[in-house]
Amino acid sequence: MATARINQPETPPPVPWLGYRTRAVLGDTDTGGAPVSVLPLPTLTGFAIHNPSYLTVGLWPVAPLATPDLVRFTEQLPTSWRSGKALFRALLQRAGLPALVTHPKRPEPFRDLMQHGLRRYGLPLLRRLLREGMLLADNGHVDPAALTEAVKEAEQHGQVPSLLCDTLTVELGLRSLTTSSPVPAVTPGATVNPTDLTSSNLLYRCPEWYDEVQTDPSGTAVRAVEDLIADYVPDATTVVEFGCGTAADLQRMATSGVSRVGVDLQPAMIAHARLRHPDLDLRIGDMRTARLTGLLGSADVVACLGNSLAYLHTDDEIGDALATFAAHLHPGGLLVLFTPIQPPATGAARTSRVDTASVHGTVTIRYEWNPQNQISTLHRHWLLDDGRTSTDVIRRRVISPGELHNHLNAARFQHLETFADPARRNEPVDAPSAYTAARLMA
Ligand SMILES: C[S@@+](CC[C@H](N)C(=O)[O-])C[C@H]1O[C@@H](n2cnc3c(N)ncnc32)[C@H](O)[C@@H]1O
Repeated sequence: MATARINQPETPPPVPWLGYRTRAVLGDTDTGGAPVSVLPLPTLTGFAIHNPSYLTVGLWPVAPLATPDLVRFTEQLPTSWRSGKALFRALLQRAGLPALVTHPKRPEPFRDLMQHGLRRYGLPLLRRLLREGMLLADNGHVDPAALTEAVKEAEQHGQVPSLLCDTLTVELGLRSLTTSSPVPAVTPGATVNPTDLTSSNLLYRCPEWYDEVQTDPSGTAVRAVEDLIADYVPDATTVVEFGCGTAADLQRMATSGVSRVGVDLQPAMIAHARLRHPDLDLRIGDMRTARLTGLLGSADVVACLGNSLAYLHTDDEIGDALATFAAHLHPGGLLVLFTPIQPPATGAARTSRVDTASVHGTVTIRYEWNPQNQISTLHRHWLLDDGRTSTDVIRRRVISPGELHNHLNAARFQHLETFADPARRNEPVDAPSAYTAARLMA
């Protein structure tokens, strides 16, 4: 029966994480396929992985060595020139490189590199994509539970299946075709973890949406910072913003001669900001501990806007952040904060419509207030027009103006002024959040 086995090779077991839709067409894999391409498959896979990122930032990728005519030409060359990369090796030899380079005893360890890359970057990326929600899973091409198992298995044991790379490639390629990240289908109240920033807020999982929904078109924060700079440090040349998010405010601050540095805890927000604003210096960091190379004791202005300071809930954490701000300013440097100073209005939930370029739906908001720990909790439920839902639970610390004054003093800051509206800086403040300006003392 050996012949029968040779003639009928065993069907390879299907990839365990295929979804119902892919499984349904497994029997048709040899039907209606695209013609064999001139370019080798790994070249096309390389394009699929890299080119979407280039195109997103406006670069048109060109690969002169991967043009079909050139590939066809080289295929006609004598086999002896082509096998074992003979021509390349001869070229390197002629250039004077030693045998160690031109004819290494061990072949190039591509498999090891692939394993290393998949283990170090691929598996964490898959974990993140699974957490955020995958297009391939939404469309039934991948079974997310089985894929999670495969990732767990690969993390714990030996080899990482190289097919995980193909899955990643297709998912990232698909994502690049959409104008925004997919919304994870979160069952209300099921998986939100308010202590994990990313899971607590849909907009942090879709930074493009954050930009569309949260960016203030009137630029109030930018005006507040610019007016304060003009009044207190008119010759400022360095601004550092901690908790910069997608850096939309930083980008809009007056640019001439001012170097702008943005820092945020969430890598996805910084990655998005880097794509959008390549002229800014953007870094991943925690405002409680960050000490930025080249900026210690030298910044003219430190800002912490958009309620970012409120994500620190204890007095110790707030003290740590103020110490970070002080560590980056020179004496006389300006600190600008925008943070909640009053408990929120805790009435009935309010529903409103959201319509931006990519986000269409309603959002229902209610607040809870805990006077013991001074945490205001925002419950926000999204109901998108396409039926998808998501729930945010965002916890923010409220600091009264008196407390803030004490925190500032303890960190060697002199309080300068507090206002809610940059157009009315002299008026008494009665608003949920306010701008506070302070100067670092010598
Ligand atoms: C509401 S967003 C404000 C972003 C931006 N300043 C704006 O106004 O659009 C709060 C930001 O603070 C960041 N954040 C929270 N805790 C942080 C920390 N400890 N260090 C740095 N950034 C932090 C979050 O990642 C998030 O991007």
